[in-house]
Amino acid sequence: MQRILTGITTSGTPHLGNYVGAVRPAVRASTQPGTQSFYFLADYHALIKTGDPARVQRATLEIAATWLAAGLDPQRVVFYRQSDVPEIPELTWLLTCVCGKGLLNRAHAYKAAVDKNTAAGTEPDDGVTAGLFMYPVLMAADILMFNAHRVPVGRDQIQHIEMARDLAASFNHQYGEQFTLPEAVVDEQVATLPGLDGRKMSKSYDNTIPLFAPREQLRKLVMGLLTDSRAPGEPKDPEGSALFQVYQAFATAEETQALRQAYAQGIAWGDAKGLLFERLDREIAPMREAYEHHMAHPETVEAILRQGAEKARALATPLMGRVRHAVGLRSLAAAGAAAADTAAKTPKAAVPLVKQYRESDGRFHFKLTEANGTLLLQSPGFDAPKACAAVLAALQAGGLAAVPEAGLQPADGVSAERVDAALHAWREHHARA
Ligand code: TRP
Repeated sequence: MQRILTGITTSGTPHLGNYVGAVRPAVRASTQPGTQSFYFLADYHALIKTGDPARVQRATLEIAATWLAAGLDPQRVVFYRQSDVPEIPELTWLLTCVCGKGLLNRAHAYKAAVDKNTAAGTEPDDGVTAGLFMYPVLMAADILMFNAHRVPVGRDQIQHIEMARDLAASFNHQYGEQFTLPEAVVDEQVATLPGLDGRKMSKSYDNTIPLFAPREQLRKLVMGLLTDSRAPGEPKDPEGSALFQVYQAFATAEETQALRQAYAQGIAWGDAKGLLFERLDREIAPMREAYEHHMAHPETVEAILRQGAEKARALATPLMGRVRHAVGLRSLAAAGAAAADTAAKTPKAAVPLVKQYRESDGRFHFKLTEANGTLLLQSPGFDAPKACAAVLAALQAGGLAAVPEAGLQPADGVSAERVDAALHAWREHHARA
């Protein structure tokens, strides 16, 4: 199962460029079989970009409503808000401690800020927060937390994914195999849309068309799109025409071909804009309706995100348990564990054993032992072998947190973290085998 994960910073109102470049391809990808998709609202990241609380809250709602309106199915994917998963900032700290400061000095966004200051003759770090500097580490925690294999991003984010890989590798080297090394996926097919002035559509150029602008506002904006001065009747060139490119991103191949012909036949710019507006509105209107519904019911969006966070934490909590154990943040009650781990060097060095068996009273049990025979956990008796196997399978897949109802207790003197670490080692071994 390939795990795909991507985050959306909650700092602005989604525009047509975001839809074509990120939302639409992600919603399509999320329906692919054989993949598990994670989409989250990166609201901690938003705090690096803005200090305006109302804007963060508003953008979080707008972006959540956008993804839902665009067809993301929260039952099928894990759709959550970063700040609902406290394990993410916790992991950020552990990664911070294996992150060379020099690595962060080389991050593009930080370097750009320094270059700007240098050019302006101010202190190199003027106005640079530690949050901006640490941005890539928080992003690495987002990705590594769910052991994502593939991370769809824009070109500007590739370096961040490479840093996440570097941090995963450093951590694994230091503490044993804990993290999957993620890969950036940049879709070359996806169009970058031009904005109203013909440059790339971007908030920083203030040339965007909001995705869910009301119909009449959308019409006005489209009418304001930059064109050249060719008069009606004069043939027009689709090459380099912003209007044409936006049209193409929404239309079928036949529709695009028809517009190309209209250009050759000298369609008036006003008419071409009318075609574009109608084509956009045809695509957007049903989504806009869903969007407005979500915006009017923020409490249902909140509930959807809370459910997503529960799903996310069902994975993040056991992972964090293993990682805490790996770095030595452990229960002091399990003093024997420390000695055993020191001897074994890394938690994965020896493969624990899982055994199912039947007691003389006829009931079914399983137990987990360390490779050296130390008992870690023994299940209570089950009447049916099926029930026994089901609990064991869930435990093996998700650790103790996955089976809270089963009444499983670590053996005397053994911590829950040690049990989860052993299960993790067991999984890693069997995944490789
Ligand atoms: N930095 C990304 C952006 O600005 C957003 C983001 C945050 C992200 N965490 C992530 C993307 C993790 C992918 C994976 O576009």
